[in-house]
Amino acid sequence: MKKRYLLRFVPTMRCNFNCPYCFEGDSSKRPKETMFDAHTPEEWIDAMRKFSDKEIEIYMWGGEPFLLDGTYTVLKEWLAMDHILPGCRIDTNLYYADKIAERCPSNKLKLNCSYHMQYHTLEQQFEKIKKLKELDMVGMMNFVASEYNITKLRNDYGMSVHDLIKKFAEIGVFVNIAGDFAYANNKNYERHDEYMKFITQFISPEEWRFLRGEPQKRKCDAGKYFFTVNYDGKLTSCIDSNVYGNFFEGTIKPAMFAKTCDKICPSLISYPWRSDNEFIPWSSLTEYVKRCEKHRKTMNQEIDFEF
Ligand SMILES: C[S@@+](CC[C@H](N)C(=O)[O-])C[C@H]1O[C@@H](n2cnc3c(N)ncnc32)[C@H](O)[C@@H]1O
Repeated sequence: MKKRYLLRFVPTMRCNFNCPYCFEGDSSKRPKETMFDAHTPEEWIDAMRKFSDKEIEIYMWGGEPFLLDGTYTVLKEWLAMDHILPGCRIDTNLYYADKIAERCPSNKLKLNCSYHMQYHTLEQQFEKIKKLKELDMVGMMNFVASEYNITKLRNDYGMSVHDLIKKFAEIGVFVNIAGDFAYANNKNYERHDEYMKFITQFISPEEWRFLRGEPQKRKCDAGKYFFTVNYDGKLTSCIDSNVYGNFFEGTIKPAMFAKTCDKICPSLISYPWRSDNEFIPWSSLTEYVKRCEKHRKTMNQEIDFEF
């Protein structure tokens, strides 16, 4: 059987949006480097061919990955390669939805489509998602339950998050209600328990805990299968500071055994690699959606939250 790896790319930390609640902070103050400064899209494309004896899942985040022209160029070629797996996740603010549909349409991509209310009206967001859904490219829509978003949804549209979920369910799109890290991760927030109860209608209490919780030692497969590809091609892992290969040389030298880690995983792509759960780490966004859908079926009342 072919060896399988998940490779994480960060085209840029720059973003065309500057959301008041973004945990990455002010986008105008972020590093300006991009993955195409030292290596051209063609070099990234050629390097991916060196892994054709393996199976590769791609994950991209940032910043806004689709801000860069090179992102479309590499994705178009990468996604056409036989060794690229379906279920590749990219986090996007959807500003460039038309360009995505035009330049790199592929149902191997399952986009994590954020809804940032400061920048798109509900109708704009709906039309953008609909277009990508028709191409089978939507993993889910992510709605951060921030003060800004919840208040704007209520004031501008008279809607609760339950209404939002129902609106997008009409076109078969799952809406994730993400706990805003500023409240969810702050145990001193005076309404923390109420906020947790609100969010855990939409995600299970386990997912809530895995995303934050107390640091605890456990084995993790991250250094065996899940790597970040740095701008110089070096493969690194969240598990330690080792270098696990080089993308441009076509090398991966994974850890022989699962390592132990006690860090908190700030992302749902990370914690399925840990030994404290049985979640499937491949095609992690679609797996996450399946788990949440199952959890929501166990809920029999709708709780609302106002800031
Ligand atoms: C930092 S964004 C970058 C990717 C892309 N530009 C986007 O808007 O989706 C990555 C993810 O973090 C989520 N996010 C941003 N701020 C958040 C917050 N305060 N709490 C929880 N999630 C947040 C976004 O909705 C998105 O799904």
